[in-house]
Amino acid sequence: MSVATRLQAMQPTDVGVPGPTPRDMARDFRSVRADPVSFLDRVSRRFGDTVSFPVPGAPALLLNDPADVRHVLQAAARNWTKDTVQYAALARVTGPGLLASAEPAWIEHRRMAAPAFHHQRLEAVGEEVRSAARTAIEARLGLGRAGAQPPTAGGEVVDVAALTHTIGLDAVGRALFSTDLSDQAQDLLRATSQSADLVVRLGRSILPRAAWTPTRTNLRLRSTRRRLDAGAAAIIAERRTRNARSAAGAAHGDDLLGLLLDSGLGDDEIRDELVTMVIAGHETVAAALAWTLMLLAEHPAAQDRVRAELDAHEGPVPLVGNRERLPWTRAVVDEALRLYPPAWAISRRSLADDVVGGRPVPAGTLAIISPWLVHRRPDLWPDPEAFRPERFLGQPLRTGYLPFGQGPRLCIGREFALGEMVLVLAELLREHRVGVRTGWTRPVPEAKVAVHPRGGMPLVVRRVDA
Ligand code: HEM
Repeated sequence: MSVATRLQAMQPTDVGVPGPTPRDMARDFRSVRADPVSFLDRVSRRFGDTVSFPVPGAPALLLNDPADVRHVLQAAARNWTKDTVQYAALARVTGPGLLASAEPAWIEHRRMAAPAFHHQRLEAVGEEVRSAARTAIEARLGLGRAGAQPPTAGGEVVDVAALTHTIGLDAVGRALFSTDLSDQAQDLLRATSQSADLVVRLGRSILPRAAWTPTRTNLRLRSTRRRLDAGAAAIIAERRTRNARSAAGAAHGDDLLGLLLDSGLGDDEIRDELVTMVIAGHETVAAALAWTLMLLAEHPAAQDRVRAELDAHEGPVPLVGNRERLPWTRAVVDEALRLYPPAWAISRRSLADDVVGGRPVPAGTLAIISPWLVHRRPDLWPDPEAFRPERFLGQPLRTGYLPFGQGPRLCIGREFALGEMVLVLAELLREHRVGVRTGWTRPVPEAKVAVHPRGGMPLVVRRVDA
């Protein structure tokens, strides 16, 4: 590369879009790292629907207009790949699993994994998800725990974020791998949450460093990866042993692990998909449930309506088809995912020149899409900060709503996650009421792989009949 070309690559490309100056960025450097969601919110309020960041080389654009979002994620999806710093960082942990991989491997893996998320299969695993919820609720809230007292009338302060994490991990294990992850749960929980922290740290660093550089982050990542590898290897070995004991040559079953084992993929590829599903499948649901419970604790009338709907529902709550059966509970979940979408930023890079929002943009342009910001557009969501589940009652989901992404890379776990959220709310709220302490302030949203409540979600939990 000539000196002139190199120098040009160091300059930001001007595509006529307003945005913060390098000096603004330098001033905000700390807040960009500490609280990227608020930073994006501030710049979009200041500069509008499309914001350009002063980075060297190809443009980096924040896109807030739903039409531009649809273009990048859906209409022109083939041109906008996951070749971004954020996905490269994730791939350091998950390998090229379904979430981080690019065409052509992606479509094959998606087709392979899809049957594990079909309605019929989800219907069959509802009981497993319910057991995961019941086990964790009973263990944490005292019911069934030897010698333990259930919460008193005054209630007990419980970190519901820790509770939903345990449920989320166990549900993925039981539903997708037909495995009880409880033996390894603590280690897997710690390893996934540590790797999530490291991924975020890597995704935020401006200078890419080689994976072999012995930085603290790289060293910790290597050790976390080893623990995740060991967890995944144990799950695979356990299933192979179990299968060998049954009829020789029989298929491994129709859960995700069975599909992967029967697919002819190598152990490394199976490991990548397992780790992907553990990370993508439990952090997101756990965070979303914690925020949902917070909103219900703050809005007792909405919570009573959930309970009334559950009381009127006959039989166990199923994993699929809840919009018709429990419309209010489902609307609560939809609205909580609007206000607190766990996936706070989605990134893509263009392969070829394109036109976005009427402006030509060159190949290599980085697009950043934040469901968090799109979900707060006052033109689409009047009084956007207000918790109003009725927005979703009896209405088809609309433009400008993308907690699960959009287009071909839409979340494969969407139905599973929505069903799990309704089911966990049912298991918890049928017998318990959640509330907030006096002097309550909301935990600060912390952008990791998912947006978590910083420091947990301490809510007052009491039995309904106490
Ligand atoms: C509330 C819970 C969840 C949220 C908010 C969520 C959000 C998302 C989003 C926004 C994407 C698209 C990312 C992009 O386009 O760059 C995605 C993709 C994905 N999600 Fe989820 N997710 C959730 C639950 C789950 C669950 C339960 C699983 C699996 C058990 C899962 C597995 C995946 C996978 C594998 C992909 C990649 C799909 C592909 O590219 O083909 N997610 N998720």
